[in-house]
Amino acid sequence: MNDIAPASSNEAALKKSGAEHLFMHASPYGALAHDAGKRILVEGKGIWVKDIVGNQFIDALAGLWLVNVGHGRAEIGEAIAKQASTLAYASSTSATTIPAIQLAERLATMAPGDQNTVFFTSGGSEAVESALKIARQYHYHRGEPKRQKIIGRRGSYHGGTYAAMSVSGTRPTSDPFHSPFMPGVLHASPPNCYRCDFRQTFPACDLLCADQIGQMIEYENPQTVAAVIAEPISAANGIVVPPDGYWQRLREICDKHGVLLITDEVINGFGRTGKMFASEHWGLVGDMMTMAKGLTSGYVPMGGVMCRPHVVEAFEDKNTLSHLITYGGHPVAAAAALANIDIIEREGLVQNAAAMGALLLEGLRGLADKHLTVGDVRGLGLLAGIEVVKDRGTKEKFSESGPELAALNESLRKRGLLTRAGTIISLCPPLCINADEVAQIVDIVDGALGDMEKAAGMA
Ligand SMILES: Cc1ncc(COP(=O)(O)O)c(C=O)c1O
Repeated sequence: MNDIAPASSNEAALKKSGAEHLFMHASPYGALAHDAGKRILVEGKGIWVKDIVGNQFIDALAGLWLVNVGHGRAEIGEAIAKQASTLAYASSTSATTIPAIQLAERLATMAPGDQNTVFFTSGGSEAVESALKIARQYHYHRGEPKRQKIIGRRGSYHGGTYAAMSVSGTRPTSDPFHSPFMPGVLHASPPNCYRCDFRQTFPACDLLCADQIGQMIEYENPQTVAAVIAEPISAANGIVVPPDGYWQRLREICDKHGVLLITDEVINGFGRTGKMFASEHWGLVGDMMTMAKGLTSGYVPMGGVMCRPHVVEAFEDKNTLSHLITYGGHPVAAAAALANIDIIEREGLVQNAAAMGALLLEGLRGLADKHLTVGDVRGLGLLAGIEVVKDRGTKEKFSESGPELAALNESLRKRGLLTRAGTIISLCPPLCINADEVAQIVDIVDGALGDMEKAAGMA
């Protein structure tokens, strides 16, 4: 792996300009100029990306959990160019296009169960907003207009727009700035067995975390609850893989009370967890499923909501959907998605994610023998995480702003690995990764944990 190269004058000028004119997301203004963790990337191939001064990095977060087919796929670029130069846009309300229809049909064959109809959006937040609006209007047309409440889970993330933020379980970071949130939103406990809210152990707990959602629905009055939204595996909450039976129980609870279940597969979908959709691990079929990210592997923005027949049938005849998005079903994005899915299927990337994911988890679990700071290793397919702790017995965490996690981040970067590492080291590389590259990731994490332990005075 390379040492970080010195800044060139071109890099310095671009960083200065970018710091002034480009407001980077989830960043302080001007961060590009002084935060070593921000970089200008210029090209990518497979799991690798290169910055403007020639440093190579493993893109271990696949951008922002989405470049599933890997970087540098000319085939997707060609599909985009061809569609853009043939017909770049058609109204999302009065027309549609051949690639949009082809993609809708393809998704219907791929999606879990009878999720046969798609509402296209520009990204994941819009997919979530759309699913929530469809849920409320669905109940209205079925004669239950009071069903408006939404249940999310603490720690989950469903997007940055208002309703998506409101149903996300990220109050500690968003409340100081953005409350009041959308009314009628409740949050339940996550199915996190490493840090169980009920201080129970699975299976003796008998899935209290799922039952709590049922109790919430009953307490609130089922006739006022529209939907439950949850990621099959929550990446944001620290790669939380629910225990066996959780999804079956939650599905039963929602069915019992006439509440729609929205499965958010924005990160989980398109092979990430070793199945095309994570729902398949548990035979789960959400009434709606939100998707984005891996749908196009990020080559252009696109998202969507898959709906089951009973959902869309509520919108027949005069029950026009009261919702539109200008870029919904964008033909260029649809062409990119079709080319992206071709690659996933042709190259067997779902199977590769399962095989390489098992290797990655095995390698990461091996690090626990060597590093006392490895509290928990969890994941499924190529969605993996290490929970880093100060003390394995008490599960005490390092401070998010302390020197230990800063040392961890710096070491990962210097060793050539791009990811997000706080209390959780998230690993979510492109699905085209090979065994040698998996071993490189494990080696780098091993070295970086050692550096962090030195900084903490533990080694
Ligand atoms: C599970 C989940 N849902 C929704 C979103 C929002 O997607 P976007 O950032 O494309 O709006 C994200 C983004 O990370 C996500 O992880």
